[in-house]
Amino acid sequence: MAVVIDGKEAAASVIAAVTEASASLEKEAGVKPGLAVVIVGDDPASHAYVNSKSKMAKQCGFNSIQHSLPEDTSQEKLEQLVAELNADPSIHGILVQLPLPKHLNAEPVILSVSPEKDVDGLHVVNAGKIATGDLETGLISCTPAGAMLLVNRIHGRDLSGLNAVVIGRSNLFGKPMGLLLLAANATVTMAHSKTKDLASVCSHADILVAAVGRPQMVKADWVKPGATVIDVGINRVAAPDKGEGKTRLVGDVAYAEAAEVAGAITPVPGGVGPMTIAMLMANTVIAAYRRAGKTAPRF
Ligand code: GUN
Repeated sequence: MAVVIDGKEAAASVIAAVTEASASLEKEAGVKPGLAVVIVGDDPASHAYVNSKSKMAKQCGFNSIQHSLPEDTSQEKLEQLVAELNADPSIHGILVQLPLPKHLNAEPVILSVSPEKDVDGLHVVNAGKIATGDLETGLISCTPAGAMLLVNRIHGRDLSGLNAVVIGRSNLFGKPMGLLLLAANATVTMAHSKTKDLASVCSHADILVAAVGRPQMVKADWVKPGATVIDVGINRVAAPDKGEGKTRLVGDVAYAEAAEVAGAITPVPGGVGPMTIAMLMANTVIAAYRRAGKTAPRF
């Protein structure tokens, strides 16, 4: 049976370190890290995510601001709000929750966030820094940063000689994850929906990362015996065994059977999920340290 990688525990230790770093910045430089979270529209799942981000920011001792804009907000209005937040010295991190309503174009909004405040790590400047191997001066996208921290817990920081396969090639996760694994010396394959014989590609992975958004797609026979499996999927599926109309969360990996083969595996929920918010807090405190001219902590 695989070791279960406890994301809740790892996230709690990042949050404790962030809270401590935030308190010492306030004491030494009189600066309280400020995080502004912007949400447009009424999507209940997005509101739930954003509320937990705002709540965690308060728990870390941050100045936590939430802007909830109506569904019919214009592109111009949204970009104007971002411009105000860019200019506000009390705000060190800005996050615009995605996806945006259909009439809005996310790309220019992402590019309108000042790279120094882009705690989501989505601005082309921050994405470009990871791509060119600069992991020190930018901000790294939260979910890949969190997934990488879990990989490091199993394998250490140097992944020389290990094969890593990432399934999924989104800007939010797959691409930066592949680049972080590469920067750590893994031999990386980026697989996606057009990959031929995906099961066979995956079966060579010492580190298998699934981010496809398809419930339980990765089966036990895709997993190399002893591999580390990182499941980034969060899918809500019907759970008639729990009662009529009930649902449960499952990952992109068929957990029970994969856990029989893997060496280590993240559960869903309780694996990568809690790491995303923890790394958002880490990015915010890093941005605040840099703004104050102080050496930022590492997580
Ligand atoms: N929606 C789902 N995940 C994320 C994330 O990491 N950042 C933002 N901005 N929106 C999201």
